[in-house]
This record gives sequence, C-alpha cells and structure tokens, in this order.
Amino acid sequence: MDGKIISNYIANQSVHEQYGGVVPELASRAHMQNIVPVVDQALSAAHISRNDLSVIDAIAFTQAPGLIGSLLVGAQFAKSMALALNKPLIGVHHMQAHVLANLIGDNPPSFPFLCLTVSGGHTQIVLAHSPLQLEVIGETIDDAAGEAFDKTAKLLGLPYPGGPLVDLHAKTGNPKAFSFAEPQIPELNFSFSGLKTSVLYFLQKQEPGFIEQHLNDLCASVQYAIVNILIKKIKKAVQQTGIKNICIAGGVSANSGLRSALQETGEKLGWKTYIPVFEYCTDNAAMIAITAHYKFLDQQFIDLDASPSARATW
Ligand code: KG4
Ligand code: ZN
Repeated sequence: MDGKIISNYIANQSVHEQYGGVVPELASRAHMQNIVPVVDQALSAAHISRNDLSVIDAIAFTQAPGLIGSLLVGAQFAKSMALALNKPLIGVHHMQAHVLANLIGDNPPSFPFLCLTVSGGHTQIVLAHSPLQLEVIGETIDDAAGEAFDKTAKLLGLPYPGGPLVDLHAKTGNPKAFSFAEPQIPELNFSFSGLKTSVLYFLQKQEPGFIEQHLNDLCASVQYAIVNILIKKIKKAVQQTGIKNICIAGGVSANSGLRSALQETGEKLGWKTYIPVFEYCTDNAAMIAITAHYKFLDQQFIDLDASPSARATW
C-alpha cells in the first residue's frame, strides 16, 4: 500500500537456451510449472501466511504485451486469486512497468522525465508526465536493442540470450577495434536490423578462427555501436524536450556499457540520470507491483473477464 517492495521473485527459464531463442509453447508450459511455487516463495519472503491472505489489497498481473500463452497463464492465475480472495484485479502494461521500475526506492526521478526503455522486444523513448501518463516519443522501426545484442551474439557463436555475454566479453575488449554501419533514422526513432547485417557481412569476409581470436574486441565493438545509437537518440530527445531527468529501463539497461555511457554523458551535459538497480532492470515482479500501486491509488481496476493481449499500445 505504501509503494515499498517487500519481495521480488522471478523464475528463469533455461529450457530455451538449446533452441537459440524463446520457444512460446515451452515458455507457457514453464510458466504453468513455476507460477504457484514462485507466488508461494514471494508470499513467504514477504512474511504473509497462506492462512491470512486478507492483508493483500489487490492482485496485479501483466496484461500486455508478450507471448500470449504465457500471458494467459498469469492472467488466469491472477483472476482466480482475485476471485477467491475477493480483491480487485489490476492489469499492467509490461512496458509501462519497465519505466515505473525507476520509481522504486528512496531516490525516484521527479516528473517529467525521459526514459529510454530497452528490452528484448522494445526500444522506446518515453516521456513520463506522471506515473500513469506516459507518452512514447520514439521507438524502433525494426529490431529492438535487446534483439540486436542477441542476434549479433548468435553470429558470434554465443548462446541465447547473448546480451549479458556480449557485455561480459566486452569488458576486456577494445570498443574501437571494429566499426559497423550506423543507421540514419529520422526523429527519435531507432533501427537495429542494419547493424546485424553489417556484422554478418563483416564476419563473412574473415578467415576461419577470426571470431575465437577476436571475440572480446568484437563484443566490445558491437556493444559500442548499439550504445552509441541509443545515447545519440536520448541526447536528441533532451534537445527537443528540454527535459534533463533521464532514466533507463528494460533488460538492456543492465548493460554495463550503456550504464556508464549514460552516466558519463549525463555528467557532461548536466543531466540527472537514474539507473535502476540490476534486479529491477530485467523482467521482474517488483516493476509490476509498483505500477499496480499507482493504478490502485487511482482505482484503475479491471473486470474478472478481462483478457491479456499479445500486442497492445498504451
Ligand atoms: O526486459 P527483458 O528482461 O525482457 C523483455 O521484456 O524482453 O529484456 C531481455 C533482453 C534480452 O535481449 C537480453 O539479451 C538483454 O535484455 N540483456 C542485456 C543484458 N542483460 C539483459 N543486453 C545487454 N547487456 C546486458 N547486460
Ligand atoms: Zn521486459
């Protein structure tokens, strides 16, 4: 009720690694297996007894966007719980939740702020007027930043999801070792599919064994190229809006290159930058909870017959 996070549990799905990407059918089956134990763990970490669930004010779940099979599992479970406990139900937009993850903790940004939301499925610049008034002012026209990391990682022979591994190898590589084509996309929009193609053509021209020999430099150079695209656009957004409170969100905001580039650029240009702690960057329960908190305060409840949606604008 007071906007404090009292537990934050997630279940990772390693079942997809061997397929080089998320297999929707397997994802929903893993959700089925995980959802009850995870909720149970979350309750005990929060010191809430199964025998006294009356302390719960509302039940929230991710309503959109995402893989529909997985969303259905969460929605069905949340609705059953809301019905059984006779509590209001709150549907949360996944991307809104990533942005609002920045409001968790003692030092939240003040409004308005800009948020660079970078995940496996989205790349957006969001102008946050208030917790429940978010405006997308720029987005990718093709791949998301996380996809750019994962797809180039695959070209480099790294397992899925490659983003964190590129980050790891980049730490000891030279970001200027190789350069790749930079997209020229108007306004505040992004494009990442060209980068992947540029890396592919570059690698095709090399001798066998090149990747193994230069893996760290390749990772550092790819990471530099992606971060460079992101930072240029956020600079442009600051110029256009005059807003200098800058946040990042989404799985790619865990990237150490992006985190330090944002901090450095912010210091140089007099921005106030906010970077969520690591566990609130990648998909997590706390970001759904903080969004539900603001929706609860605004009495934004949904009916028990509400359905999730794979795609949804906000
Ligand atoms: O937000 P998220 O956990 O899930 C989605 O909503 O998509 O983001 C997952 C994405 C993946 O593409 C993953 O490779 C990327 O975030 N990611 C990273 C890092 N950690 C996660 N990319 C680069 N560096 C990282 N450290
Ligand atoms: Zn996400």
